[in-house]
Amino acid sequence: MFVITGASGRTGRAAAEYLLTAGHRVRAVGRSARRLADLAARGAEVRQADPTDPVALADAFRGADGIYAVIQPNYIPDHPDFGAFQDQVAASLTRAVAESGVRRVVGLSSWGAQHAEGTGPVRGLHRFERRLSAVPEADTLWLRAGYFMENLLDHIGTARTHHRISAPFEPGVPLPFVTTRDIGARAGEELATGTWHGTEVLELQGERDVTMREAASVIANAVRADDFTYVQTSIADFHAELLGKGVSVDVADMMAEVGVSVNSRHTRMQQPRTARTSTPTSIERFIEEEFAPRYRAAVSD
Ligand SMILES: NC(=O)c1ccc[n+]([C@@H]2O[C@H](COP(=O)([O-])OP(=O)(O)OC[C@H]3O[C@@H](n4cnc5c(N)ncnc54)[C@H](OP(=O)(O)O)[C@@H]3O)[C@@H](O)[C@H]2O)c1
Repeated sequence: MFVITGASGRTGRAAAEYLLTAGHRVRAVGRSARRLADLAARGAEVRQADPTDPVALADAFRGADGIYAVIQPNYIPDHPDFGAFQDQVAASLTRAVAESGVRRVVGLSSWGAQHAEGTGPVRGLHRFERRLSAVPEADTLWLRAGYFMENLLDHIGTARTHHRISAPFEPGVPLPFVTTRDIGARAGEELATGTWHGTEVLELQGERDVTMREAASVIANAVRADDFTYVQTSIADFHAELLGKGVSVDVADMMAEVGVSVNSRHTRMQQPRTARTSTPTSIERFIEEEFAPRYRAAVSD
C-alpha cells in the first residue's frame, strides 16, 4: 500500500491514478475528503490530514510500503512568509516519516535544489531535502523536476488579449519544461518498482529543453495566431506586476529571484539527459491538449 500526500493536487493526483491503474492499494491524503472523492470512487482509501499536522500524517503513513511526499500547494500568492510555511510542512512530513517507520520515500523537489540560496521558492525545497534525508531509516528518492508546463496556464488571459506570453526569462534560455502528470506518474512508478538506497536524486527534465521563444511559437501554431509572441519582462517590472496583483512582497521577491537564477544559469539541471531523466509529454502535446482549449474558451481581459 502506498500513501500519496497532496493527492488532490496535480502531481499527487497523477501519482495516485498511476498506482490505482497499475492495481496497487493507495491511501490518498489531503485536507478535504470531497476533493478526494474521485480517487475514493476508484478504490483509494481516503485520509484527511492537514500537511502541517505531523500526528495526523504519521497515522496516515503507518503500514505503507512507500510514500510520496510533496510540499503543496505550489505557492500561496499572498503569504507573508512562504519559506516559513514550506519549513512547517517539511518538518511535519519529516516527523511523520520518522514516527511511522516508513522506509521508502519519493519526495518532490525541483531543479536548482542543489543550492541553498538564490533560487526563490526552491530554497525551501533544498531545506526539505536536507531535513527529510536525515531520517536514517528511510531511503529517499528526490525527484528534482524541471519547470512545470502548467505555469504557462497562468498566462491564458494575457495570451488571449495581447497574443503574447511574458515572463522574466531570457527568450533563448533553455527550460526543462515538464508536465505535472508525467512527474506524478514517475513518482508512482518509482514507488512501485524503483530501487534506490540512502538518499538519491533523479532530475525530471521533460521531453526536451524548450525556450520561451519556442513555447510561444508552439502556441502560435496551435491557436492559429501568427502574431503570437514571447515578450521578456524586466525583473523590476515583473516584481511590480506581481505586487499589483496582490502577491505579497515575500512571494514577489521569491518569484523575481527565480527569474534572475534561471537567466544566470544558477538554476540548471546537473544530470545528463537520458531516457531516465526524460519524460514523455512534449510541449506540442501539452499546448494542444491543455493550453489551446483554455485559450479558446477564455474571455479577453
Ligand atoms: N511550478 C514549478 O515549476 C515547480 C517546479 C518544480 C517543483 N515544484 C514544486 O511542486 C510542488 C507543488 O506540487 P503540485 O503542483 O503537485 O501541488 P499543487 O497542485 O499546487 O497542490 C494543490 C493542493 O494543495 C492544497 N492546498 C491548497 N492551498 C493550501 C494551503 N493554503 N495549505 C495547505 N494545502 C493547500 C490543496 O489540497 P487539499 O486542500 O485538498 O489538501 C490542493 O489540492 C511545490 O513544492 C513546488 O515547489 C514546482
